[in-house]
Order: sequence, then structure tokens, then C-alpha cells
Amino acid sequence: MRKPILAGNWKMHKTVAEALVFISELSKLIDGAGNAEVVVCPPFTALYPAKELTKGAIKLGAQNMHWEKQGAFTGEVSPLMLKEAGCEYVIIGHSERRQFFAETDASVNNKLKAAFAYDLTPIMCVGETLAEREAGDTETVVEGQVKQGLSGLTAKQVAAMVIAYEPIWAIGTGRTASSDDANAVCAFIRRTITTLFGSGCSEAVRIQYGGSVKPENISELMGKSDIDGALVGGASLEPGTFAKIVKY
Ligand code: PGA
Repeated sequence: MRKPILAGNWKMHKTVAEALVFISELSKLIDGAGNAEVVVCPPFTALYPAKELTKGAIKLGAQNMHWEKQGAFTGEVSPLMLKEAGCEYVIIGHSERRQFFAETDASVNNKLKAAFAYDLTPIMCVGETLAEREAGDTETVVEGQVKQGLSGLTAKQVAAMVIAYEPIWAIGTGRTASSDDANAVCAFIRRTITTLFGSGCSEAVRIQYGGSVKPENISELMGKSDIDGALVGGASLEPGTFAKIVKY
């Protein structure tokens, strides 16, 4: 049985003070919320201050990192620093990183390897643009991202990580993929993992859907065979709303 994982990607939202209020409120709201894993991914500045508050049911994740341990990389944050700040998870290759910060499958691959080297669990994001979907290229695009992103990793590593399928046209648009369409791509990703790493690995790896997830659509998405969780942007910013998603 794969453990459900609901993660909130706050993007560039919330000051330290706001983050701490959010986490205390969420902790109260989800008290005894069952066996799903709950992760919040605040901006870098709020990670360390949130460390103490996230010792219980809520886990801490970062939204990005560099792959080197240290060095002359102005403006970057290393996996070692995230580990020290209390992170267990790190989002890698979010479409906004790929779109606005020139991340590639090769940098995603470097970052995944670095995450494992520092005992962080990566959440690798993949997904197609609207033009790619309309051209019928969804599987080709996603397969390429999965193959290149996971290149050189072991089956054991891949089994322990999380993959988030996030169609770019559904992110922040209010336009969710239908649960059947989302599940079809998640199942395709799992078959791709079977081919690359074997069925033991593909049965264990957790695959999230992301893109306009909200309290109204989470239950249907979570009812699907190959969707093991959600990566939530906009609807993760308010504790009451995110708590409803966590308690789907
Ligand atoms: P959204 O963002 O829920 O606001 O669509 C999801 C994401 O970018 O991870």
C-alpha cells in the first residue's frame, strides 16, 4: 500500500511570521487526520523557523535547491543547508523553475542525485504544456522528462521518491485535468517506471497529481488507481482549505 502524500507548494508566498501562524493553525485542524503524509513547502526564509513546528504530523519541504554542497553559486541554496534547516522533502523541476529559471532535465537529474546524497526525498515534477497536449504529445513529453530526470538513479532510490504529474495548463488556472485524464498519465508514468526500474519499484513509487487541486476535487482524484497524492499550490495557502484537502 502506498501512503498518500499531500504537499502544499506555497511558491513565493508568506513571510516567516505568516508561515508560523499557518503551520500552528494547520496542526490544530489536521489533528488525527488519518494516515496521509502532509508536507508544506514554504519559501527558503521560513524553513528553519518552521522546523520546530513541523516535528509532528506536518513535514517540511523546500521548493528548489542547487546540487552542489557549497560553492560560488550566488543566490543558491544547497541540499546540506536544506537538511540542516529541517527539510525532509524537496520539490525538483517544478514547471515554473523550468519555464522562468531555465531548468532542464539535466539539472533536474543532478538535483535528484544530490537530494539522495543528502537524505532528502525529492518530489520531481513533470508535465506537458497545452500545445503539447493538443498535439497529442503528452506521453512523449512526460516519458522524456521521466527518463532523463531519473537517469542513473537506482530502483531503490526511485521507489522512495515522489513524482508529481502537473500538466502546465492546469497550474494556477482553475482548470483541473479530469480525474480520468490525470490518472491515465499517472498510470503511464508508472508503466514507464516499470520498464526502466522494474515492477517492485513502480509499485512503490508515489505519484501525485498537481494543477488546480482544491477541496472540491481532491476526493475524486484520490479515488483513482494511480494517484497517490497531490501537489497543491493556490489551495495550500489557507489552513482551512488545505486541511480540507488533507482530510479528503
Ligand atoms: P495550483 O499549483 O494548485 O495553484 O494549480 C500547483 C503547483 O504549481 O504545484
